[in-house]
Amino acid sequence: MTQTFKKSNADAGITVLKIGGSAVTDKNAKAGLAKEEEMRRIFKEIATFSGKLVIVHGAGSYGHTYAKEYGLDKGFHKEGFLITHDSVRLLNDMIVKGLRAESIPAVPLQPLAFSVCADGRIQSMFVEQIELMLDHGLVPVLHGDVCMDTVRGSCILSGDQSLPYVAAALSAKRVGLGSAADGVLDSNGQVIPQITPQTFESVKKHIGGSAGTDVTGGMLGKVSEILELAERTGIESCIFNANTPGNVADYLNGKTIGTRISRN
Ligand SMILES: Nc1ncnc2c1ncn2[C@@H]1O[C@H](COP(=O)(O)OP(=O)(O)OP(=O)(O)O)[C@@H](O)[C@H]1O
Ligand SMILES: [Mg+2]
Repeated sequence: MTQTFKKSNADAGITVLKIGGSAVTDKNAKAGLAKEEEMRRIFKEIATFSGKLVIVHGAGSYGHTYAKEYGLDKGFHKEGFLITHDSVRLLNDMIVKGLRAESIPAVPLQPLAFSVCADGRIQSMFVEQIELMLDHGLVPVLHGDVCMDTVRGSCILSGDQSLPYVAAALSAKRVGLGSAADGVLDSNGQVIPQITPQTFESVKKHIGGSAGTDVTGGMLGKVSEILELAERTGIESCIFNANTPGNVADYLNGKTIGTRISRN
């Protein structure tokens, strides 16, 4: 049976969306556990968007749990490396299938296959295929992954690191990170509307790791990565709650929600 896919509106520039592992998996689970209903709702919201779109999803309990168990954030462990990669691929497969069910022409892309890190940071990542896919109306779907590393043997390449790399390489217009919190919250649980390099030092004290298992720094890791993107390229991001119905569609279709991270 042939499937009909949505036509993309290619004129408005590239949008990069992170679907946080905390939004679509249970990060307190001891092994990979998907929030399937949340996934389906989020995919339906993504289907309302017709621009050029790159999706990066987090590893959630499909990655962080095994990465922690085998110490993969510190270096290479053959069995742990294989188990973790297989597990995040499983999640990626589930997400790509779910997107296809909403007529989104999603293409699975494993960062391990086209990236090399040096001491935990991306040294090179091939992105020309992503650009060509977008030109042909496809929706590439990357994910948090393990990666070969010239210093450590291997490392964890978080979605929070690949997302700004891809956004900068493709000169993305909009970058959104959907997670399980309403944005970056202060000590009273209120959303901090904007973070810039100038205000980061004063708000940093409110930002921590993750309530669940997360080997790449949770919220503080995320904010640091996209603040660096804003500083270096001027590309702004929004961190918002992907578990609030309507937010993913609203963000994709132009609204600013949650916490805005910008150069000034
Ligand atoms: N100031 C803060 N504001 C909001 N969340 C915070 C803050 N400090 C710590 N957190 C924690 O950070 C979590 C978000 O980071 P986390 O890495 O778990 O999410 P994610 O990026 O969606 O998941 P993944 O890394 O699997 O993709 C929140 O759910 C919360 O537990
Ligand atoms: Mg995280």
